[in-house]
Amino acid sequence: MTALPYLDATLPIAARVADLVGRMTLPEKVGQMLQLNGKDGIEEPILEMHVGSLLHMSPENMLAAREVTERTRLQIPLIIGEDCIHGHSFWEGATIYPTQLGLAASFDPEILERVGRATAVEVAATGIHWTFSPVICIARDLRWGRVSETFGEDPHLLGALSTAMIRGYQGEGLSDPTAILATAKHFAGYSETQGGRDASEADISRRKLRSWYLPPFEEAARAGSGTFMLGYQAIDGTPITINKWLLNDVLRGEWGYQGMLVTDWDNVGNLVREQRLFPDYAQAAAAAVNAGNDMIMTTPAFFQGAQDAVAQGLLDEARIDEAVSRILTLKFALGLFEDPRLPSVERQREVIAHPDHTALNLEATRRSIVLLENDGLLPLSSDAPLKIAVVGPNADDAQNQLGDWAGKSGQADWLPDGHPREQITTVLDGLRAQAPAGSVVEYAKGAEIITTGPDPIGEFFPDGQPRPHIAMPVETDQAMIAEAVALAEASDVVVAVLGDRIELVGEGRSTATLELLGGQRDLLDAVIATGKPVVLVVLASKPHVLPASAEKAAAVIWAANPGMVGGQALAEIVFGAIEPSGRMPISWPRHVGQQPTFYNQIDAQHGYRYADLTQEPQWVFGEGLTYTSVSYADLAVSTPEVTAADTVAATVTVTNTGDRPALETVQAYVRDVNTSATWADRELKAFQHVALQPGESATVTVEVPASACTIVTSDESRPTSAASWSPAISSSWLAPRPAATIFWSPRLSSRSKP
Ligand code: NOJ
Repeated sequence: MTALPYLDATLPIAARVADLVGRMTLPEKVGQMLQLNGKDGIEEPILEMHVGSLLHMSPENMLAAREVTERTRLQIPLIIGEDCIHGHSFWEGATIYPTQLGLAASFDPEILERVGRATAVEVAATGIHWTFSPVICIARDLRWGRVSETFGEDPHLLGALSTAMIRGYQGEGLSDPTAILATAKHFAGYSETQGGRDASEADISRRKLRSWYLPPFEEAARAGSGTFMLGYQAIDGTPITINKWLLNDVLRGEWGYQGMLVTDWDNVGNLVREQRLFPDYAQAAAAAVNAGNDMIMTTPAFFQGAQDAVAQGLLDEARIDEAVSRILTLKFALGLFEDPRLPSVERQREVIAHPDHTALNLEATRRSIVLLENDGLLPLSSDAPLKIAVVGPNADDAQNQLGDWAGKSGQADWLPDGHPREQITTVLDGLRAQAPAGSVVEYAKGAEIITTGPDPIGEFFPDGQPRPHIAMPVETDQAMIAEAVALAEASDVVVAVLGDRIELVGEGRSTATLELLGGQRDLLDAVIATGKPVVLVVLASKPHVLPASAEKAAAVIWAANPGMVGGQALAEIVFGAIEPSGRMPISWPRHVGQQPTFYNQIDAQHGYRYADLTQEPQWVFGEGLTYTSVSYADLAVSTPEVTAADTVAATVTVTNTGDRPALETVQAYVRDVNTSATWADRELKAFQHVALQPGESATVTVEVPASACTIVTSDESRPTSAASWSPAISSSWLAPRPAATIFWSPRLSSRSKP
C-alpha cells in the first residue's frame, strides 16, 4: 500500500502540509491549534480535543503521550514545549546556567550561542522540541518580577544576545535532531509595566516601540526564530493578542516573518475574563485567530469557541487552515512525522550535565559576575591562610541560588526537592574549596529574608481557585545577628551574601520595594560596624537598593542568580584565580523612587536631579570593574562622512595600564548632536571584547551601520541623511570610573530635519 502523501518524506513540506490539512476535520484543525498543560492530564486533550501541543510535561507523561497519540486517527505527532530558559530548567540534574540577566553581563553573544546549543542538546534528549526562550523584553522598572528573565535594558545588547541564543537553540537547522525551536517572547512591550505590576497595560507610543522595543524582535525574526510568543498585556487599549497592526502589518508584513505565533498563557481567555473585550469564547477565538495567532496556549475553551465562531460566520475556516499549516510546517521541518523525537534514556545518560556543559557553565558564570566596588581588598590573598566569616541568607541556599525557572521554582511539580544538591556549588562551598590552605571558613546565616503565608484578603479567589501565598518580610533576629557579629569579629574578612528569594521573583511576583528585605540591612550594618573588611555579594535576581552601610563595604559584587557553579566562579574571583570581567546589563538604582533608571532616557527635562536625591543610578548600564586599569586613546573615525547606507568604522587604542590581565568590553555609544526628534543622550551601538596582558595595547575596530543610528520620528519614519562623524572619548556621562567604562562616542551631526 502506498503511503498517504503527508507521510511521504520525499515530498516537499508544503505538499505534505496541504495534503494533511485537507484530511483534517474542523475539530481536528482547531485542536491542532491548542497547546494545553500536561499537568492537567493528557488523554482527554489528545483523544477528545486533538491538541497539537502540550507543555509542562513530566518525564513520565512524555512517553505516555506518544502512546495515546498513536491511538488517534491521523497520528499527528505532538510538539512538546517547555521553558528551558537558562538550561533545561525542570529536568533533574540538567545543567543550570546563570539567569538570562546574569548571562547578559558577559556582553558576549558567542557564549550565549554556546549556552543555547548545549541547552538544546540536553533538552532534545528528553523529548522536548521547543523552548520558550529567549525573553527579548527590555527591563526598565526593576520592581517587575521578571527582570531576571531578560537581557537587561539595552536594545542593542538584547538583539545581539537573543539572536545568538536563537542560533544556539536551533543549531544547523530544525532537521538536526539536537535542534529545538526557539521562541522570541514576549512580543512586544510586555515589560513596560505600570509601577512594575505584571502584565499591566503598557503605555508605549509607536515611535518608542519602533525605536526600542521592536528592533531586537526584528533581529530575532530575521535570525529565523521558529516561533514568537505574544505578551499578555494591552497597548493603548488593544491586547497584543488581537493587535493586527503588530502581528500582521509589522511582524508578518514588514518583516516577512513566516514562523508560528503562540499566545501566552490563556491570553484568549483573558480577552473574555480580565480584559473583557468579548462576551464569549466564540468572539474571542475569532478575534485572536483573525489577528494572526496560530497556537493558543492553555485556553481549553478555545476548542469549542473557535468551532462556534466558524458556525456563526465570525471566523473563516481558511484562516484556521493557515494557522494549522504553519504549525504543521514546523512539525514537518522538525521531522516529527518520521521520528517523533521521543525521550531517549541512553542519550540522556550521554548528554545531561555532560562535563563539557559544566565547563561551559563555569566559563559563562565567570563572565556573568560583576565587580562593582573594590577598595583594593580584592583579590584576597591566595596563599596566606585566612579566617573568613561568611554571613547572609544567600551564602548557602543551593536551590534559591538557581533563581526562577529552575528545579523547584514553582512551575513544575515533579521536582519537589529541586536539582541535586551535589551539583550545586554555593558561595560557602566555593569559598571553602578555594580558600588558601590552612584557612578557616565559617558560616553564620545572620538573617532571614521573608516568610510566606495566606493573603489576608482570603485563601481563595471568588471562583474557588486558591490564591497564591504572599511574601512577608521577617523581623530582624538579634540572636542571629549577634552570632554573625561574633564570627566577623573573630575573622580577618567578612563575605556577606545578601539578596532576594524565589518567592520574590517571577511572574505575578513583582516587588513594591527594591530594598534588601528581612533582617538583611541590620545584618550588613552590624558586620560593617565591626570594622572588619566586608565583601558584599549581592546574590539577587535583580539589582537591589543597598543600605548606607554598603558604602563602607570594601568590595561589592553582583552575582545575579548564578546557577549551579555560581559559588565556584565567585570564589575564583574573590581569590583572584580569574579576573572579573562582567558589565552591568541594567542600571542599579539608589532608591526605588528613582525608577526607572535606564541609561538611555530621553533628554531635556527640567533640572538633573530630585530635590532630595540624585537622579544618577548607583551603577549605570555597562559598568563593571577589573583588577587592573585600562586606558583608551587615539580614537579615530575612519569613515567621517557616510550616507545612510554606509557603515561607520572607528578605531581606538586600548592599553592595560595595570598589573593584572583584563578582558575589556569596549562599548561604542552614539550621540546625535542635532536630533530630528527628542532623544537620548547616548545609545550603545556596538561592543567588542579585547583581552590584554599587563602593559599590552591593542587597536580595536568597531563598526556601526549608520542606519542603526537613525531616530524614529512621531510619524514612525526614520529620516535618513548623510552625516558626519567626529570622535570623542568621554567618561562624563557617569561618575568618572575610568578603569571601568569609557564611553566612546562618535557624534552624528549635521543631519537634516524631517
Ligand atoms: C507564561 C509565561 O509568561 C511565559 O513566559 C511562559 O513561557 C509560559 N507561561 C509557559 O510556561
